[in-house]
Amino acid sequence: MANNKQRYIWRDISLFDGLKTLPKPMAVITQGERVVTMTPMDGFDESQADGCHDMGRGGVMTPGLVDCHTHLVFGGARADEFEARLEGASYEEIARRGGGILSTVYATREASEQTLFNAALPRLKALVEDGVTTVEIKSGYGLDVANELKMLRVARRLGEALPVRVLTTLLGAHALPPEYENDSDGYIDLVCNEMIPAAAAEGLADAVDVFCEKIAFSVAQCERVFKAAQAHGLPIKAHAEQLSNLGGAAMAARHGALSADHIEYLDDAGIAAMREAGSVAVILPGAFHTLRETQQPPIAGLREAGVPMAVATDANPGSSPLFMPTLMLNLACTLFRMTPQEALAGMTANGAAALGLKGQGQLHEGAVADLCVWGIETPAELAYAVQPGRLRQRVYQGELTHGR
Ligand code: NIG
Ligand code: FE
Repeated sequence: MANNKQRYIWRDISLFDGLKTLPKPMAVITQGERVVTMTPMDGFDESQADGCHDMGRGGVMTPGLVDCHTHLVFGGARADEFEARLEGASYEEIARRGGGILSTVYATREASEQTLFNAALPRLKALVEDGVTTVEIKSGYGLDVANELKMLRVARRLGEALPVRVLTTLLGAHALPPEYENDSDGYIDLVCNEMIPAAAAEGLADAVDVFCEKIAFSVAQCERVFKAAQAHGLPIKAHAEQLSNLGGAAMAARHGALSADHIEYLDDAGIAAMREAGSVAVILPGAFHTLRETQQPPIAGLREAGVPMAVATDANPGSSPLFMPTLMLNLACTLFRMTPQEALAGMTANGAAALGLKGQGQLHEGAVADLCVWGIETPAELAYAVQPGRLRQRVYQGELTHGR
């Protein structure tokens, strides 16, 4: 915990507050865990800086980044599949012949909790060193009760090892494990009747996710998972409309999902359902890029409907082996024509909303002091250039964890 008396001051900051860039250079003071002063420089009374540690002048301040969709815990690697795709195989074909997600399942089951932890730690460090202060980590490569819980335990431990808030998501319905070949309803029974209750009983899951797709689970099966999750008081979200339009996002929205993620094939009815429910659209340009997809998510339609859009890495060994959140800002703009402001809101305020942390991922007086200061001049530069090393300072819960 930050020392209650510790006060930091930044002057002449260009500030993106999580939703917008403020028009004037700002002064920002934090005390202990909180932002206590955020005021334009031209009205700043210097006596407020008394007793503050001087953190410098200039640069861009943003909320700490929120990466609301990752699969950071996994065994093995899938470079062979990467090569196969370059030679023409599709993600779906690879999955149908037992590769893809399942190949990571074998490697993850094989690995001990400690091995998984050791492998995931540098991945999480990469995110933290690129400005992330809140991250979601999914299970989904265990696909049985013991291995799903093992993954969630690793995710919890990661949050204790580094100065970052980790939210865990049970993704038992990610793929059909080989033991249940030809019995996908039987596997959904296991997810609903054993996995969700066990994860809830141990307090290991903050939410429940599903993969609603032809190569994964049907809309009806995903709906059963949602009902079981909600019976245990767990919020829900979905991987939906990534490779085809099954209507999973609309179904998830009808159940009050926090978010629907990927959504390249989302149609107008899906957009309307998400708007109605207040679900966040999580845009994952890393997977689109890696899989060389061509169907664009309906950004203009989402924008017009006022559906909040988040942006995340989807960091995983198959569809998005990309562990650099600021690269996603760039890809969201370049590939999907999101504006730099939208992309930034997507990785701050809207990323938080996608995790059920509405009102977080924002900077204002009274906010928790999770923030980054970047060595650039305007917030848009964060999305414009892809350049490691720009993070000048990172503050997590009022404590300086990077820079000086
Ligand atoms: O978000 N779409 C499904 N699941 C992951 C990919 C996981 C994998 O390929 O290992 C995703 O893209
Ligand atoms: Fe994913």
